[in-house]
Amino acid sequence: MPTFSIIDSEREPEPDPGTADDATAAETPPTPPSEKSVPALSRAGQVIAPKTNERVAFIGSTQSGKTTLACHYLAQIKTTPTILVDTKGDGVLNRFARAHGFYEATTPVLPSEQHPRVIVHGPPEADFWDPLFWAVFRLRRSVTYIDELTHLTTNWNDPAGKGLRSLYSTGAGRGHGLWAATQRPSGVPTQAFSECDHVFAFRLSWPDDEDTMRRMLRMPDGRFESRSLPPYGFMYTTHGMNEPVLARAVIPIV
Ligand SMILES: Nc1ncnc2c1ncn2[C@@H]1O[C@H](COP(=O)(O)OP(=O)(O)OP(=O)(O)O)[C@@H](O)[C@H]1O
Ligand SMILES: [Mg+2]
Repeated sequence: MPTFSIIDSEREPEPDPGTADDATAAETPPTPPSEKSVPALSRAGQVIAPKTNERVAFIGSTQSGKTTLACHYLAQIKTTPTILVDTKGDGVLNRFARAHGFYEATTPVLPSEQHPRVIVHGPPEADFWDPLFWAVFRLRRSVTYIDELTHLTTNWNDPAGKGLRSLYSTGAGRGHGLWAATQRPSGVPTQAFSECDHVFAFRLSWPDDEDTMRRMLRMPDGRFESRSLPPYGFMYTTHGMNEPVLARAVIPIV
C-alpha cells in the first residue's frame, strides 16, 4: 500500500494532522496543486483526518479512489481496535488488510487483545452483520470501516439493520467510529449519512447520486458536477466549514 498525501486545490500543501490516536503525519508533497480548471468552489480549506469515533462517508463511483483514501486514514490508526467489513471482496481493501496484519475471518468476530485488527468477509446481507454490530457496543472503543454501505442499509427499517442504526445514532458517544464507502449514496437512507462528521465525495455517474451528494455537501444550487473533478479528486467537508474544498490524494510514483 503506497503512502500518499492529501492536498487541497487552492493553497500550498500542509502536513496531514493525523488521526485522534496517532500523531503520524504524511509527508508534504513536493508539487503544488494544479486543478484550476475545476469550478471555483474551494476557498482555502483543509482536509482534516477523521477521528476514530467519528462518522465518515467516502462516496464515489467505482474506481474513483474511495477505498484507497479510506485505507490511507485507516493505516494511521495505531491503538483503536479496528474492524473492516468487506461485503464485496474489495481488492484494495484486502491488500491493505494483508499488508497491515489484519486477522481474516469469514464469521462476524470482534477484535481482541491478540487480534486488535480484523477484516470480516461476508455476504451483502444485513442479518449476517447485525450480531457483529451489536457486539461492537461491548468494546470500550472501536472503529468500523464498511465497504459497501448500501449492501447493509437498503431497507433502514429492516429489523436486521438495528445494530448498525444504533452504531450510527449512539456509537460516537460510546467511543465507536463508523467509516463507510458507497458507490450509490442515493441508496443509503438519509438517517445514515445525516450526521456525518466528514464527507469525501468523488465523481459519480448517476444524477440521483449527484443530487444526494450535493445535499450532503450543502451545494444544492447546481454549481457543481462531480464529473468535473480531476482524477481521484474529491470534495471534502466537515463541521464548521462554510463551503466544501476540492482536494486530491497524491500517491508518489515509486
Ligand atoms: N489518488 C490516487 N492516485 C493514483 N491512483 C489512485 C488514487 N486513488 C486510487 N488510485 C488507484 O485507482 C484504483 C481504484 O481505487 P479504489 O479501489 O480505491 O477505488 P474505489 O472507489 O474504492 O473503487 P470501487 O468502488 O470499485 O471499490 C486503484 O488501483 C488505486 O490504486
Ligand atoms: Mg473500493
